[in-house]
Amino acid sequence: MIITIVGGGSTFTAGIVKSIALRRKELEVDEIRLFDLDKERQDKVAVVVDWILHEDLKCDIKLTVTTDPETAYTDASFIFAQMRVGKYAMREQDEKIPLRHGCVGQETCGTGGMAYGMRTIFPMMKVIDDAEKYAKPNYWILNYSNPAAIVSEACRVLRPKARIINICDMPIAIIDVVAAAMNIKDKENIVYDYFGLNHFGWFTSIEYKGKDLMEPLRAYIKEHKILMPEAYLKDKAALGVTVQNEGTGTEGNRHTKGSWYYVWKGVYEIMENFPEMLPNTYLNYYLQQKEFVEHSDPTHTRANEVMETREKNLFDGVDTYLATGKVDEKVFYAGSHGDWIADLAIALKNDTKARFLVITENRGAIPNMPYDAMVEVPAYIGKNGPEVIARDPIPLFQQGLMMQQLNSEKLLVQGCIEGSYEKVLQAFTLNKTVPSMNVAKAILDDMIEANKGYWPELK
Ligand code: NAD
Ligand code: G6P
Ligand code: MN
Repeated sequence: MIITIVGGGSTFTAGIVKSIALRRKELEVDEIRLFDLDKERQDKVAVVVDWILHEDLKCDIKLTVTTDPETAYTDASFIFAQMRVGKYAMREQDEKIPLRHGCVGQETCGTGGMAYGMRTIFPMMKVIDDAEKYAKPNYWILNYSNPAAIVSEACRVLRPKARIINICDMPIAIIDVVAAAMNIKDKENIVYDYFGLNHFGWFTSIEYKGKDLMEPLRAYIKEHKILMPEAYLKDKAALGVTVQNEGTGTEGNRHTKGSWYYVWKGVYEIMENFPEMLPNTYLNYYLQQKEFVEHSDPTHTRANEVMETREKNLFDGVDTYLATGKVDEKVFYAGSHGDWIADLAIALKNDTKARFLVITENRGAIPNMPYDAMVEVPAYIGKNGPEVIARDPIPLFQQGLMMQQLNSEKLLVQGCIEGSYEKVLQAFTLNKTVPSMNVAKAILDDMIEANKGYWPELK
């Protein structure tokens, strides 16, 4: 059984490999392959991966590190994709260009996310085509590569038969924080319901061992004016805009540090007005777009924080290991992110029908959203993929927001495929983070310049 990781040079690779290795019995995995276009970067990450597999966990899983697609994909059963097309240098542009025009600049949301989407659609199709050509016929691609909403819509349109499931770790990261805030150690006993688009959704219920958690959670958030565990609130150094060492390891949670602070604060602010559901943190970018711009530093954004912390710690850690033979586990990011993708693979492989939140075609699950919308909802996962679960119609407020966002994303995908400047401009104009058509156009024109060599030509 072979698992191929596309974007082998990612800062998340080591953590994912650890989660796979800890589940080697259920996964029956014989070989892990790392595939990336950037050999130098991947070779460094491979040093830590090799250490995890063969020294730390002492397993007999073979490790192959390659930049050749045929070597990477041949006979693979699972492909875990997590590439960042344009790397952090382009993420920086996605965040900074909109800010220059007074708009939300974010990795996956608003026009920054759309720029990232335009870079990622065709490379993602290449991953699918390589899997079709070389991998096992019943392969599964589990995709984390962002922007997952736009990528999933492009997959639906361009490769409708592909065996791919797009996923996100934000809802489970929120559940991790909820568990910590509520002093729950066995988070596997938390059951929740959720609906939305990717990075655009709401928890409608959260229960722990059959007991409602929403009510105590609302009280907690109101009292603390933020959704964050007590431990972090006591440790004031971990709060605010000061960038902390994000080396993390399993005990840490990067979501509760650095600029993420505003995002968790925003959950409180949103719930002060709309207390019924627990919003995904990403809704802040659409509901508090003006405030986000006001507290952003247009010269130092999240991409800079990540380069100064998670990325730097990882590569410094590799250098230290090569020089001294010592590994500080805290230098690489591990935890729920890797557990989630590895557990999903187990459900597919062993046909468990376990319930997972995934990005999948609506097919009537949300009755008042289009049949073909790519939504993020709970589904039962078996060997043939997700089976969505029907639910009641959603309220008009959420449905209205989702339709605007969905149509913006659909226009973006169409515009990208057709090379249509007008459709991409419509996508930008329709997005809730953009106040006017003229601002949309100014951002788009700057982005066309910045994305030369990555974007299809728009006419
Ligand atoms: P990173 O830059 O450290 O790693 C990405 C790697 O992808 C790089 O090594 C890069 O060389 C490689 N790459 C770029 N284009 C490629 C291509 N066409 N083929 C193969 N490899 C390619 O980034 P990171 O911060 O570790 O994040 C990795 C990805 O995972 C990003 O897309 C990020 O948005 C995504 N992510 C998604 C979720 C989620 O919830 N869906 C959570 C965390 C991270
Ligand atoms: C969450 C989201 C991802 C996103 C990531 C960014 O995990 O679910 O989709 O890529 O946050 O985190 P970062 O630390 O890179 O800002
Ligand atoms: Mn996500």
